[in-house]
Amino acid sequence: MADQAAAHSYAPEYPWWLQPVATVVILSAFALYSIWVALQGRGYAAPYLSPFYSPPVRVGGIPISPAWWVVWVPAGFRATCYYYRKAYYRSFFRDPVSCMIGESRRRYAGETAFPFILNNLHRFLLYLAIIVLAFLWRDTVAAFFFDGRFGVHLGSLLFLVNVVLLTGYTVGCHAFRHMVGGNLDCYSCARGGRVRYRLWQWVNPFNHRHAPWAWASLFSVAAADVYVRLLMAGVISDPKLF
Ligand code: FES
Repeated sequence: MADQAAAHSYAPEYPWWLQPVATVVILSAFALYSIWVALQGRGYAAPYLSPFYSPPVRVGGIPISPAWWVVWVPAGFRATCYYYRKAYYRSFFRDPVSCMIGESRRRYAGETAFPFILNNLHRFLLYLAIIVLAFLWRDTVAAFFFDGRFGVHLGSLLFLVNVVLLTGYTVGCHAFRHMVGGNLDCYSCARGGRVRYRLWQWVNPFNHRHAPWAWASLFSVAAADVYVRLLMAGVISDPKLF
């Protein structure tokens, strides 16, 4: 009885299906929004460049939205993320829907067959995402300059929050943690072991809280883009704070 009571006390206070449904709704909405944004072909209201359009790649003579050259990198990075995999395997495919619940498939193929074998590209998408992140930092610095003069507007702060959240999400990536030091068995035996140990220690808290960083940065990317679009449409102004 005591065990049952203890187990019961750990049960969530909300219906079990709420989390998977919320995941499906939010991820589907974000995917559809990303496609819509990429189809627009524009994402700039001085000095703000939408994160979906950064870096602003143009290939002469090919009439497609500049966003398509870029957006597959963060999209692929998130789609292959270990946390999001757990979320969409459970929510979209019920495969399985939770721990302690059987597989819905007869035969478990893991990530050895198409399309999920593509998830093994995550490490390489991380390298590309780091490059995109560097451009987003450059855009954030630009978001503090108005006609060449430094200033802080609401949009500047929104861009700063967004890039900080994206950085927290990226450095908390399991592949990033592995790259900086998680792949070592013996730090004192490795070249640069002390530095790598410090780096590994630094990224650990981000890694342990990877899910909140993942969700917060998803919302902040959308918020930054919505802000740029409202400015482009003249719906809002960009208040100067100081
Ligand atoms: S594990 Fe989530 S971004 Fe790499």
